[in-house]
Amino acid sequence: MKRSTMTEFHVEIAPSILAANFASLADEIRAVERGGVSMLHVDVMDGHFVPNISIGVPVVESLRKATQLTLDAHLMIEHPEQYIEAFAKAGADMISVHQEATVHLDRLLCAIRELGCEAGVVINPATPVGMLSEVLDKVDYVLVMSVNPGFGGQKFLPGALDKIRHLKEIRARYNHGFRIEVDGGIGPENVAEVVRAGAQILVAGTSVFHTPDPAAAVRRMQQLADEALTTKV
Ligand code: DX5
Ligand code: ZN
Repeated sequence: MKRSTMTEFHVEIAPSILAANFASLADEIRAVERGGVSMLHVDVMDGHFVPNISIGVPVVESLRKATQLTLDAHLMIEHPEQYIEAFAKAGADMISVHQEATVHLDRLLCAIRELGCEAGVVINPATPVGMLSEVLDKVDYVLVMSVNPGFGGQKFLPGALDKIRHLKEIRARYNHGFRIEVDGGIGPENVAEVVRAGAQILVAGTSVFHTPDPAAAVRRMQQLADEALTTKV
């Protein structure tokens, strides 16, 4: 397993393959690899926890054979505890589960780590950061949804910014080690804002794959993120 280095001074763009052309997934992945990314975001939807169905374990297995990139599996499914082992075995490096999807969050996060993966917890737009207070010492990353999960191509909800700032404060106050990820409606127009708020992993689907040149799109967003880290406003 690859465990990414936790640093406040580095931001990663995580292209979400949900927006890619599944009929030529390998080519799409090569394109973002050329753009210099180190991880891929894999959206798993079951048609129950979210009103849409996407991809599952076999696709992660195929991705694992096709790329060395860190695979970040975002499980938008009911009963996530029944599936984490399969995703870990398929080759996911990072697995995140929704706070809203389980009543045994603590157990589930520990189990993800025991499987050798980074453990992430996700909160929907209507879920406050406070709901995570008892698990922040057991996670490698917190994913703040900046859209209601289920679909790509939605508009960024600015309420995510305060949550990111809040998480950053709590992390400093209690000396936690988690990274902060943001997902939904991210593109060149708001990269600087989310990075300044404290986001370190930026998931981007539409703004990467629905462009003529995904490699250039990720390079541009990485550049904007790096600039936002180094320039004061
Ligand atoms: C939404 C997914 C996102 C989605 C983001 O439920 O979790 O990862 O792919 O897509 P964009 O970047 O198009 O908002
Ligand atoms: Zn996602």
